[in-house]
Amino acid sequence: MKTFVISGGTDGIGKAVALARLEQGDQVVVLGRNAEKGAAILAEAERLGAAERGHFIQVDLTGVAATRAAIAEIRSRFGAVDGLVLCAQHFRSERLVTAEGFENTFAVYYLSRFLLSHEMVDLLEAAPSPVVVNVCGPGIPMGEVRWNDLGREREYAGLDALMQGSRLNDLLGVGFTQVNPSSAVRYVLLNPGGVRTSFSGEYDQVMAEQIEAMRKVAKPVEEGILPILAVLDTPPTAPLTASMMGDPLPLDGSAFDAEDARKLHELTIGLLAVRTG
Ligand SMILES: NC(=O)c1ccc[n+]([C@@H]2O[C@H](COP(=O)([O-])OP(=O)(O)OC[C@H]3O[C@@H](n4cnc5c(N)ncnc54)[C@H](OP(=O)(O)O)[C@@H]3O)[C@@H](O)[C@H]2O)c1
Repeated sequence: MKTFVISGGTDGIGKAVALARLEQGDQVVVLGRNAEKGAAILAEAERLGAAERGHFIQVDLTGVAATRAAIAEIRSRFGAVDGLVLCAQHFRSERLVTAEGFENTFAVYYLSRFLLSHEMVDLLEAAPSPVVVNVCGPGIPMGEVRWNDLGREREYAGLDALMQGSRLNDLLGVGFTQVNPSSAVRYVLLNPGGVRTSFSGEYDQVMAEQIEAMRKVAKPVEEGILPILAVLDTPPTAPLTASMMGDPLPLDGSAFDAEDARKLHELTIGLLAVRTG
């Protein structure tokens, strides 16, 4: 029986992966902020005859301290983690800053993934063939990293913040392998393409219309999770891989620049130290 931790596992792709793993006989720890949705996952686990293998930790992943508390809880309850699946995301047309001073999209889409990836390495390395699947947006030729304004205080736009988050996650993957050069953990950046999910977010009218249009052409979630289930079953041999809709992406493009990855890692460590101690 393998153990999988799934951030943003209360809806969409994360939820579908969680239920598929429970059906297969694995143990699943879902991280999510919504208690009702968490209870629904546990009820579903019971229906599948997997009550003792389904776990829910309620956590708002925009919070650094809250995310670290969730990691501490995972550490206290589970000795090893075979797979970490990163799915939490929330779109905001209007800029919001967390109590710890981070822009919301930056906090949930990038920072929580940074913390979960780096601060669970020991738990992952305790498993025989560990993998992190960061479900994000590699291969999309959009998104500018504003190095001097990661919180996008100037001229905020929700889509720009989201696309910046995708570029930050590409660099997170590169940075993870730089910091853990001889680790057995395989890091997978995976873009599933358009998938019909909950599209968690607070949208203005223009974006809401775009989401509705996307929903009509997106594939069902059962189909969208197949590449994720495949890498959870058989992690790649290479330390870092990226793919879009099942097709491998080359890692020599500017999105995966080694210097940028180092710079982002240092910048993130600095921000965490200054804002959260
Ligand atoms: N769907 C697509 O077409 C598509 C395409 C390319 C890439 N992706 C990537 O795939 C990943 C999953 O996407 P999805 O479409 O499955 O997303 P989704 O249906 O919107 O689900 C997002 C999950 O994150 C949770 N979440 C949001 N904010 C949170 C917070 N502050 N704390 C804890 N949990 C939080 C949501 O919980 P609540 O229900 O409480 O909000 C939900 O469980 C995302 O990273 C996305 O970028 C998706």
